[in-house]
Amino acid sequence: MIGELIRLRALEPDDAEALHRWNHDPEVMRWMFDGYAEPLAATRKSLEDKNRYGQLVYGVVAQKDDTLIGVVQLRDAEPETGCANLDIYIGEKSYWGGGYATDAMRTICRYGFDKMRLHKISLTVVTENHAARRVYEKVGFIEEGRLRKVLRRDGEWYDEYWMGLFPDELR
Ligand SMILES: CC(C)(COP(=O)(O)OP(=O)(O)OC[C@H]1O[C@@H](n2cnc3c(N)ncnc32)[C@H](O)[C@@H]1OP(=O)(O)O)[C@@H](O)C(=O)NCCC(=O)NCCS
Repeated sequence: MIGELIRLRALEPDDAEALHRWNHDPEVMRWMFDGYAEPLAATRKSLEDKNRYGQLVYGVVAQKDDTLIGVVQLRDAEPETGCANLDIYIGEKSYWGGGYATDAMRTICRYGFDKMRLHKISLTVVTENHAARRVYEKVGFIEEGRLRKVLRRDGEWYDEYWMGLFPDELR
């Protein structure tokens, strides 16, 4: 899958080191659920899983230098409902602000609507994650509701927005 600035490719076990580094970077994980610390071997093993309808995980690669810079997932897709959920992060911080997440979102959403015939793509974002909200709004996602106090950081609870996108809203 090719966008303007990025291409999406399957992740390989050798990508584990990059993912492991990003997943343990507090700045990258600031507004994401980071779960339990995972050994590198477990990250590597998880990358042996095959992509399939409903659970797609792709590496985001910057076309300009062929560097893996992040991950995008289109998960929980159900053919019966045509609904799926999306997650993205750009782990290589030097690429932030370069338009890569926006392009990766457009590319995966286009794939979801055109090839998987999805009816709707949804995501959640912490209300304080202004950069991510800006990306989602640029792509066309619309706020649909607010979930109260779902992520705890530094002793404070933060809310999340639910956002959704239909095919004719993708920009
Ligand atoms: C959020 C994230 C995905 C954005 O990726 P990116 O490649 O930098 O995004 P883009 O360059 O495509 O767009 C960023 C937009 O946010 C804007 N932005 C950046 N910081 C901002 C802030 N503090 N407040 C408001 N807007 C901000 C940029 O100006 C840009 O908008 P513009 O094109 O109108 O100028 C990336 O920073 C990231 O992965 N962060 C860590 C993980 C994360 O939070 N993931 C999302 C979980 S829901």
